[in-house]
Amino acid sequence: KDYVWYQDIPFPPVDIYPELIKTVHEELVLKDEDIITVTYPKSGTHWLIEVLSLIHTKGDPNWIRSVPTYVRSPWIDTASGYKFKVERKEGPPLISSHLPIQLFPKSFFTSKAKMIYVIRNPKDVLISGYYFWRVTNLSKKPESLEQYFEWFLQGHVPYGSWFDHVRGWMSMREKENVLVLSYEQMKKDPRSMVEKICGFLGKALEPRELDLVLENSSFQAMKENKMYNLPDVPEELVPAGIKITRKGITGDWKNHFTPAQTQAFEETFREKMAGLPPELFLWD
Ligand code: A3P
Repeated sequence: KDYVWYQDIPFPPVDIYPELIKTVHEELVLKDEDIITVTYPKSGTHWLIEVLSLIHTKGDPNWIRSVPTYVRSPWIDTASGYKFKVERKEGPPLISSHLPIQLFPKSFFTSKAKMIYVIRNPKDVLISGYYFWRVTNLSKKPESLEQYFEWFLQGHVPYGSWFDHVRGWMSMREKENVLVLSYEQMKKDPRSMVEKICGFLGKALEPRELDLVLENSSFQAMKENKMYNLPDVPEELVPAGIKITRKGITGDWKNHFTPAQTQAFEETFREKMAGLPPELFLWD
């Protein structure tokens, strides 16, 4: 499979069409009550959706165990997700997207919809993406880590360049309706993250409810939740046994990058992210 391209961004070719991205960008109307998860793929999207779903049910796991992630928080940039979003008559207004800022629904920028953007160490994003795309048939498959590494630095990976995606969205970081979280902080102190999210959404949880949110969104709990690990996707696209929950750790890149790759990556990072505050990128 090859990518489908729209406005110089490569997209995975399954369930995504250039005309759809155009419609989403130009016509999709977001509502003030929408709560939007936006990420570059492999940054912890599903984890945040699980947390948001559990905040909605005050920690009760029934909903996350009976309804798939893509129905609870549909990806508006896919044909099926768009349909869910447009047709949905009930349920909380959660939605997800991996779109870069320049292709995001225009209506967002004049709405009060709340957006949470998760940043993850791009070296770990690269490794996570490599292991995902090479075993699934959802997108162009890399033949080796070396090859995927080059694609990543060039931005020839699903949803384009990590560097451009993050730089683009970070222009919104001071907005009242935008919250930026980091995967690494979520790992280090999940409780504070959930409290921060609740504060941002204006939702209060009892201490017991907060405990339940944390328990039911742990890596282990998510690994066991069938509604989260790509349910209903045909086996020819995602072979049995492939899970989003791969390792769920920080720093796995250290087990993979050569010193030369580390150096090349860091040079690109410095060049592409120049001028952004270093406290946005807290990882090692
Ligand atoms: P790894 O491949 O490094 O393990 P996304 O949802 O954006 O596709 O991100 C997937 C990454 O998030 C995977 O990273 C996955 O293991 C990790 N992840 C999912 N749930 C998690 C959790 N509860 N805690 C920590 N990491 C989690």
